[in-house]
Amino acid sequence: MEAHETSSVSSDSDAPFGISESLVPARELKAAGITSVSFDGLLQEPLLLKEDLKDGCGGQLWPAGMVLAKYMLREHRTDLLGKTIVELGAGGGLVGLAVARGCSVNAPIFITDQELMLSLMEDNIKLNGLSSTVRANVLDWGDPLPDCIPTHPSIVLAADCVYFEPAFPLLISTLQSLLGPDSLCYFCFKRRRRADLRFIKQAKKIFDVVEIRNDVDREVYVKENIFLYLIRPRSANK
Ligand SMILES: C[S@@+](CC[C@H](N)C(=O)[O-])C[C@H]1O[C@@H](n2cnc3c(N)ncnc32)[C@H](O)[C@@H]1O
Repeated sequence: MEAHETSSVSSDSDAPFGISESLVPARELKAAGITSVSFDGLLQEPLLLKEDLKDGCGGQLWPAGMVLAKYMLREHRTDLLGKTIVELGAGGGLVGLAVARGCSVNAPIFITDQELMLSLMEDNIKLNGLSSTVRANVLDWGDPLPDCIPTHPSIVLAADCVYFEPAFPLLISTLQSLLGPDSLCYFCFKRRRRADLRFIKQAKKIFDVVEIRNDVDREVYVKENIFLYLIRPRSANK
């Protein structure tokens, strides 16, 4: 298996999204392999992430996942003790595993995705020796929340989950069920099409949505059309 060090992820491959080729030019799928990621040195011991696109677009690392993981490692390294954490659309588990490895946590981190991604998440948990900290579960947006996921977690993480407009209401419905009055959702996505911003427009009708603008990398990722938001239930502000 191939192993190579990366600290950034190419953002120009949209082929795995399965978006109509009339919208996004087809490109060759990235070959399966293992990638070592240190997040620009933010992790002393890099993560090893198995990437394999055979079961869907979550089988590779995505640019908003890199941005969100780095943000969490820089800004939330020491304030997550006692917090319950759930990641949505985790793919191979990039963000949740980075938090498990680099931040101080003392509760299990639940990384979730659709059934097809379960084995990849489990493989990556094992590959990094994080079985005692991270649990992989199926959580399909729009479906009732599985019992094994904590109700109203303190922190919800979601990276690059905005790319398919028919799924927007499902993701919003999951956020409505999942977020409790004190939950904070760190939500990062790369805008690929004009429609992607409609997600935030819809979310703003229901939640308190604030763009995070104080991240040191912000100028860099804004050039790549990557947006980072904090989403909370409206009542959290009252
Ligand atoms: C572009 S990938 C991002 C993966 C990872 N968060 C990252 O940043 O590298 C989007 C992920 O959302 C998941 N996803 C898409 N629709 C979903 C749904 N209805 N329910 C749960 N997960 C879904 C996909 O399986 C995929 O893993």
